[in-house]
Amino acid sequence: MSTRLLALRAPSANRVYTESAGPLCVQEAHWVLRTRFAGIRVRERTLAGLDHLEITADAPVRELVPVVSTLSGVMALYEPAEPPEAAGEPADQDPTPLLRPVPLAPVLRHPSDLETTLKYPGKTNEQFTALLINTAAALSEHRDRLLEGSLTLLDPMCGRGTTLNRALRLGLSPIGAELDRKDTDAYRTFLLTWARGHRYRHSSDARRLTVRGRTIGSRFDAQLAPDKQSLRAGGQSITVLGCDTLDLGHVLPDGRMDAVVADLPYGIQHGAHHRGAVRRSPLEVLADAAPVWRRLMRAGAGMALAVNRRTAPYAEARAVLAEAGLDVVSADGAFRHRVDQAIDRDVLLAVRSDHPRAEALRALGAPEERTSHA
Ligand SMILES: C[S@@+](CC[C@H](N)C(=O)[O-])C[C@H]1O[C@@H](n2cnc3c(N)ncnc32)[C@H](O)[C@@H]1O
Repeated sequence: MSTRLLALRAPSANRVYTESAGPLCVQEAHWVLRTRFAGIRVRERTLAGLDHLEITADAPVRELVPVVSTLSGVMALYEPAEPPEAAGEPADQDPTPLLRPVPLAPVLRHPSDLETTLKYPGKTNEQFTALLINTAAALSEHRDRLLEGSLTLLDPMCGRGTTLNRALRLGLSPIGAELDRKDTDAYRTFLLTWARGHRYRHSSDARRLTVRGRTIGSRFDAQLAPDKQSLRAGGQSITVLGCDTLDLGHVLPDGRMDAVVADLPYGIQHGAHHRGAVRRSPLEVLADAAPVWRRLMRAGAGMALAVNRRTAPYAEARAVLAEAGLDVVSADGAFRHRVDQAIDRDVLLAVRSDHPRAEALRALGAPEERTSHA
């Protein structure tokens, strides 16, 4: 059975990525959908002057819609009234089809201001953060847990929590780590103010983070739920560890994370801290941190890292990750887009080399595979 959906793309994607918005949305859909469904084809399509993604799959609409609803740039969904074959024309010359609106699945459980209220220099764009979470989750053997709200997710360089907030909106209970005390303090204050302002049931605890009697930073834990009923069902939790990401191995158990998502220091605005000193090479930080992050991942987990190609070129970043037992499965420049003059950003998708489906995922990232379906 072949299903076709047209997804109206959010105009904000164009503002954020300018010309790369379409290809980036296609890339995200490629990983998110082809790891789950057969017969996926995704292409950009302009209808009545508006940007859409056209998605074809060998899957029923009811299975496709919840997953498509998670895609970062999707604003509305439609089923075209006629399949392209009916027109007897090549697909790119179809007349504008009639569109039947299909409601998006309610995959986000909390209001959008949880993600958008905090504004600060160095904040990772919210839509791009959603793309990172979706692609990391797609690589995980437990990808269905994203929709169930039980995917375990770590942002080991979480700044002021953009990834954590998106994860909360998805119903997850994320963990973040951040060395900069100003960031962890700002995040704690924001989250508690937000929860109070929205009359959420919540409780929290902030204390020193100690390892074998030595203080290595701070720890903030919170539980929150929109109402009594959700609280009874368990609610959601969040943990923010105010420590060096290299210390995470002493704080978190091995092999529990389904997804690791990080926007790495670009070596421009953010100093890359290491044991009190500031080092400016993101590659050095990655080399030190990758073995730690790998240990925290389940064998079948996925990782999505945003990097600046100017300070962490693909081949070098890939070699550094390989050294730590992590295979990059995305191609060079697959998610490449310009952020500003100093930042030429890309996403590295990686899995542990013992991931049960490493081979199939490497094949999905092969350049010929990407272009033939995009
Ligand atoms: C690009 S920013 C991430 C921004 C974040 N996604 C947000 O939207 O707020 C990279 C972050 O990594 C943090 N960082 C750098 N080195 C670190 C280390 N060794 N351990 C923990 N965090 C570190 C920086 O302080 C910075 O906040």
